[in-house]
Amino acid sequence: MGDRLDERENWLERLKSDLYVFKIPESEVMLMGELHNLISIHDLSRENIDMILERAKKMENVAIKRSKDFSSKIMACLFFEASTRTRLSFESAMIRLGGRVLGFADVAATSAGGKGETLADTIRTVERYADIIVMRHPLDGSARVAAEFSNIPIINAGSGSEEHPTQALLDLYSIMKMKGNVDGLTISLCGDLKYGRTVHSLGMALACYDVKVKLAAPESLRMKPAIIEEMQRAGIQVQQVDTLEDAIEDVDVVYMTRIQKERFPDTREYDAVKGKFRLTMREVDKMKDDSIILHPLPRVDEISSDVDSTPHARYFDQVYNGVVTRMAILDLILG
Ligand code: NCD
Repeated sequence: MGDRLDERENWLERLKSDLYVFKIPESEVMLMGELHNLISIHDLSRENIDMILERAKKMENVAIKRSKDFSSKIMACLFFEASTRTRLSFESAMIRLGGRVLGFADVAATSAGGKGETLADTIRTVERYADIIVMRHPLDGSARVAAEFSNIPIINAGSGSEEHPTQALLDLYSIMKMKGNVDGLTISLCGDLKYGRTVHSLGMALACYDVKVKLAAPESLRMKPAIIEEMQRAGIQVQQVDTLEDAIEDVDVVYMTRIQKERFPDTREYDAVKGKFRLTMREVDKMKDDSIILHPLPRVDEISSDVDSTPHARYFDQVYNGVVTRMAILDLILG
């Protein structure tokens, strides 16, 4: 606990030495001038990612950045799929920036869920009520389709099993904040690498960094070859391992994920893998002393609860980073 407080103190000390908090250098404005939608990690270059993480760091300095720019802005959250952290942290981020929010999370109560309205028509309606749309949808490609029909920016808050780019940004921000840097680290992505959208976006984002990556999944839930190839093309050493034990040794970051039960076409396929990848004190005892465990949450049973009180467990600190990272994203797109 003491170590964590020290780490936070050091972090704040470093922040204070930043030139100033909210004035954006002109070069930044030009670089991000192009960012309208955030659908995929592929929409961002390494410079863009660095800029978002840099700005998230500035957002830490104040809990609330109310600005005139945001007082007239409205963010619509369209959640066609369950969410706790992503929706609430986007809403918290917008409110902290001084803007307002509207939207739905109970899709059955909307015309899309209850009356068969198309996604295109829902988007064409909501764009008349808001300045930006944050959307989560169970179908791959849905965010891209929404962007096709929208005249206002769309942020992808999770599209099927395909992508979750803002989660990847907050994961990178968490790693940077907790380990000081992303470059130079060895990072294990563990669990459901087939259906887990967070690891898809994070894998693509890591292709922008100088890291070593271990991929640990049951055989039927391995990472898509296209993402492995993307990392390898970028010069990253990628190692696929079959057990959690092999994934945690000598690594700096263990990124655990939930088996995505709801995405399995056949429940028997799920039954065959459930409970297979479980991080317990047995594995944690073998981890490097300064290694960290992250998880996008929600957790089911893939990390046993006694791990929570070890200094390695950083997933609840990771949650807070979602707010500042999403403040930075909204500020860049709308500010
Ligand atoms: C993840 C998601 O929805 O993809 N959660 C999140 O956004 N923090 C992970 C999951 O559902 O397992």
